[in-house]
Amino acid sequence: MAFVTEQNLTDLAAERWGSAHDPRTARLLSALVRHLHAFAREVELTEDEWMSAIDWLTATGHTCDDKRQEFILASDVLGLSTLVVQLNNRLSPGATPATVLGPFHIDGSPPAEFGHDMAEGVRGTPLYLTGRVLDTEGEPVPGAVLDVWQADAQGAYEAQLDVDEARLRAKYRARQDGAYCLRTIAPLGYTIPMDGPVGELVDRTDISPFRPAHIHFLIEEPGYARLITHLFREGADHLATDVVFGTKDALVVPFVERPAGPAPDGRESTEPYLYAEYDFVLDSGGVRGGS
Ligand code: BEZ
Ligand code: FE
Repeated sequence: MAFVTEQNLTDLAAERWGSAHDPRTARLLSALVRHLHAFAREVELTEDEWMSAIDWLTATGHTCDDKRQEFILASDVLGLSTLVVQLNNRLSPGATPATVLGPFHIDGSPPAEFGHDMAEGVRGTPLYLTGRVLDTEGEPVPGAVLDVWQADAQGAYEAQLDVDEARLRAKYRARQDGAYCLRTIAPLGYTIPMDGPVGELVDRTDISPFRPAHIHFLIEEPGYARLITHLFREGADHLATDVVFGTKDALVVPFVERPAGPAPDGRESTEPYLYAEYDFVLDSGGVRGGS
């Protein structure tokens, strides 16, 4: 048997982990070993740096609980989450692109009628968002469920607050012609949580901790690929520097100012509002060229 040298160590370790019983696990672990070793060799990792990394990972673990996932946040700011989204959502041309889920989605949002105000009682500029859910042939996808959530004017999601009722989240259903309509408040940009090990690392760089103003969507209908995406406000700050690399051209929409009066849900708005229109295009599934 060969004893360990600097030269043969990587091959020995990769081979050992390649013995995992499940072939996919074997592939993942041996590749992980090779890439970790390549990293350490490339930067000539010192023992102090190795220990700092262990301390940072330990602190990251200690920051996680049932409401906060600092490892996902780390993956987000390192661009890994968006890369994994890209690799797993190579959609047909014309399909609405996917982006990161983020840590603040809550399962089981209440069902909402066409035009329902999911911001009831939360202060902000009224925003109506309308459009259709379509397939890549331009045909409506009736019944598609649009699970929608966003932050308030302070940048806080319900998941970060101690509240009992659903707040700034709801599930809408596309009508027969694919149309949906929701009322909410205009989202604002906000910073990712900066009071943990990820924030401590970001603070040591020139990286902006902001995400641009956006609303989250998770759209589902049997027979179509589940779409996890956002809509971003055109002209918003931080679009080009989104700390989690989530912004995409095709997801940026104008929010148009309208005076008080007839609103898109067929009722009257007593105050001026913003209006945005967007058609979501669902893919029928399968893996195609990259986007
Ligand atoms: C979000 O958009 O909610 C989000 C995504 C990634 C990290 C932090 C927040
Ligand atoms: Fe968000």
